[in-house]
Amino acid sequence: MSKFQAPKGVSEYFPPRSQNFEYVRNTLISEAQNSGYQLIELPVFEDTELFRRGVGESTDVVSKEMYTFEDRGGRSITLRPEGTAGVMRSVIEHNLDKGQLPVKIWYSGAFFRAERPQAGRYRQFYQVGIEAIGSSQPEVDVEVIAVASRAFKALGLEDYRLDITSLGDSQSRAAHRKDLVEFIAKMDLDEATKERTKLNPLRLFDDKRPEISKAMQSAPILLDYLTPESASHFEQVKKYLDQLDISYNINPRMVRGLDYYTGTTFEFVHEKLGAQSGIGGGGRYDGLMSELGGSDLSGIGFGLGVDRILLACEAEGLLSQDEAVSTLDIFLVPLGTSSKDFSIALLNDLRAAGIRSDMAYGDRALKGGMKAADKSGAKYSAVIGDGEISSGAISLKEMKSGEVKEVRIAELITYLKNLNEVKK
Ligand code: HAM
Repeated sequence: MSKFQAPKGVSEYFPPRSQNFEYVRNTLISEAQNSGYQLIELPVFEDTELFRRGVGESTDVVSKEMYTFEDRGGRSITLRPEGTAGVMRSVIEHNLDKGQLPVKIWYSGAFFRAERPQAGRYRQFYQVGIEAIGSSQPEVDVEVIAVASRAFKALGLEDYRLDITSLGDSQSRAAHRKDLVEFIAKMDLDEATKERTKLNPLRLFDDKRPEISKAMQSAPILLDYLTPESASHFEQVKKYLDQLDISYNINPRMVRGLDYYTGTTFEFVHEKLGAQSGIGGGGRYDGLMSELGGSDLSGIGFGLGVDRILLACEAEGLLSQDEAVSTLDIFLVPLGTSSKDFSIALLNDLRAAGIRSDMAYGDRALKGGMKAADKSGAKYSAVIGDGEISSGAISLKEMKSGEVKEVRIAELITYLKNLNEVKK
């Protein structure tokens, strides 16, 4: 047994499954790039106060789940539990909002929450996120949702739904809050719950205790309190979703785990993942930028959980661990010293031409070399001996079918490139 183990509850990806992880992450990222989002690389730790102010004290994330420590300079530092607050901090700090609006940004990386680990819930996990800051138009809401929806389609996912609701503007929320607080006052709650609901009474919709969730069924819901402007914004969002053929389920009791949300909020829920079924979520945040000391611009974005999306793909039989996305086009098996010298040069040419290639190292006999070719998962293999070098031609073997084709070494690069093109 290894002397050390990874810390409890972290997700780790190593070959061959890491190839599937990479494939899922890259698919999510490409959709963001295709819609004009640009990369932001942020620190994985920030001033603790940023998350307290940005994410909100009433949330589990801030009150129970942050990895917070004092650095050597006595500053309170927190490992980022989510990406939006950091993006906003950076946008304000670097005046990105003074240029073309909306600012459209994507990010990808590790996030940290000290949750109780279980399948699909980790203490270090991965998100791909986007944020569009500086436009309050409903078409931007739909653009954000459509990026996620296209990414899921590109992966082939089918067994998921999109839950959506609107938390309205501040006027809608104030009217709703008044009635909701009155409703909650009549409930029999313990002190800790009372304190939390004082900070954000909506949290009670998210309470998993059966007696509370039953009582909350008759609580007033925000959708009934939307101002005409908020209602019309939400109508527009639904209209555009219909236009793009993105189906949705209106879930007026949905509560996101972070306090900054306003207006449109949404969650993608996968049906085959059990308790940890949220594969991504997001929404608008009208007051976040001004709360963090910037101008008063609205924004909207999402965070997609790469770990859970990979689990969802596996649950739908789309990516199996044994058939991890192949990373090699060709594997060379040299026989003898002069063939080895020749193969090292050929391998270098293949790699320089962008062909994913590898070879059997050491002085292996044919059998050992072919075993290595098999294990490598490469699509093709070629044995290179003195005969091949003097004739200038190799027998290219397609590993899956066993089919063999004679190819001139001088034409090998063009041949493999053409094959890759046809595959695309
Ligand atoms: P979130 O809903 O807290 O939103 O997280 C987004 C996604 O990250 C979740 O749907 C889930 O797939 C994944 N996730 C969260 N916690 C864990 C965990 N412990 N283990 C595995 N996966 C997890 C946000 O973080 C917002 N910043 C999203 C956003 C961006 N809203 C607006 N812009």
